[in-house]
Amino acid sequence: TSSFPLTADAAMATGKAKFVGNIWYDGNAPSKYADYWNQITPENATKWGPCEPQQGVYNFSQAKAMYNYCKTNKIPFKFHTLIWGSQYPNWLNNLSGTARKTAIENWYKAAAQNFPDAEYIDVVNEAMPGHAPFPFKNDIGGDNGLYGTGWDWIVWSFEMARKYFPNSKLLINDYNVLNEWSCLDQYIPVVKILKARNLIDGVGCQSHGLEKTSAANLKSRLDRLAATGVPIYISELDLDIADDNTQKNKMQELFPVMYEHSAVKGITIWGYLQGRTWIPNSHLLRSDGSERPAMTWLKQYMAKVPGEDVPVET
Ligand code: XIL
Repeated sequence: TSSFPLTADAAMATGKAKFVGNIWYDGNAPSKYADYWNQITPENATKWGPCEPQQGVYNFSQAKAMYNYCKTNKIPFKFHTLIWGSQYPNWLNNLSGTARKTAIENWYKAAAQNFPDAEYIDVVNEAMPGHAPFPFKNDIGGDNGLYGTGWDWIVWSFEMARKYFPNSKLLINDYNVLNEWSCLDQYIPVVKILKARNLIDGVGCQSHGLEKTSAANLKSRLDRLAATGVPIYISELDLDIADDNTQKNKMQELFPVMYEHSAVKGITIWGYLQGRTWIPNSHLLRSDGSERPAMTWLKQYMAKVPGEDVPVET
């Protein structure tokens, strides 16, 4: 019989191929965390802004608590994120090109010093056109600098990440790539450029708003992305649906498409507690601790998948 799968203990014991994780809200261990999830992404605590409020002054205390929890319980930790056009420190605006590049490299160094064994790093977040590309990208290579790839600032960001995080799996991360063909088709060339240089270990698909997508489209998009040969990580899944049964039905429709896809190595849900999710109706546990039907179904489903019930990628 398979025991209920999503516990840290069970994850520790088996080392199966996939994880199903969640965010760790800022502050103390959120209630019931270890009952459900076996991978942690800090919600905000490893973003550059909160970590380096003044240049050279670092605050990693919240993130360190999560990281230590992960190490103690042997569950994977994802550092989210190094380069992003949002939640970066204000003081960065006041620097000039070279000084800014040095500041970026110092941020990498500080992160690497404090999280040397982070299993995963979201190196670059939301870089696709029209999203939140890093506004200082010209300081780190621009589009066609030294390498002439069209995405040189991203190549630079990953080269530095390889240098400072040699033990981590390096990921790119973005939204709408599983919701829109046009967005996916902008993403794939970047993934290929990084893969050709051996700079990438996984491609992150945030998946906010995935409730708007059908199972058939989801499957085709995963197949198209998987053809790059780079493992896929669903990184910020939430199903923003107020009605309990509609949410459950959508979870039943979409979750297996992702979990059973051979290229998908892990699924991280972005929040689960009512009142503490970034997207209002995406919670899976009500504030009284009871499960919404989508959560109950998810547990049952995970317990039934043979051989993959207690997942952690090794
Ligand atoms: C969100 C957090 O959940 C919020 O608490 C914060 O106010 C804003 O950021 N894409 C990402 C995440 O990569 O970092 C964002 O997290 C949600 C969208």
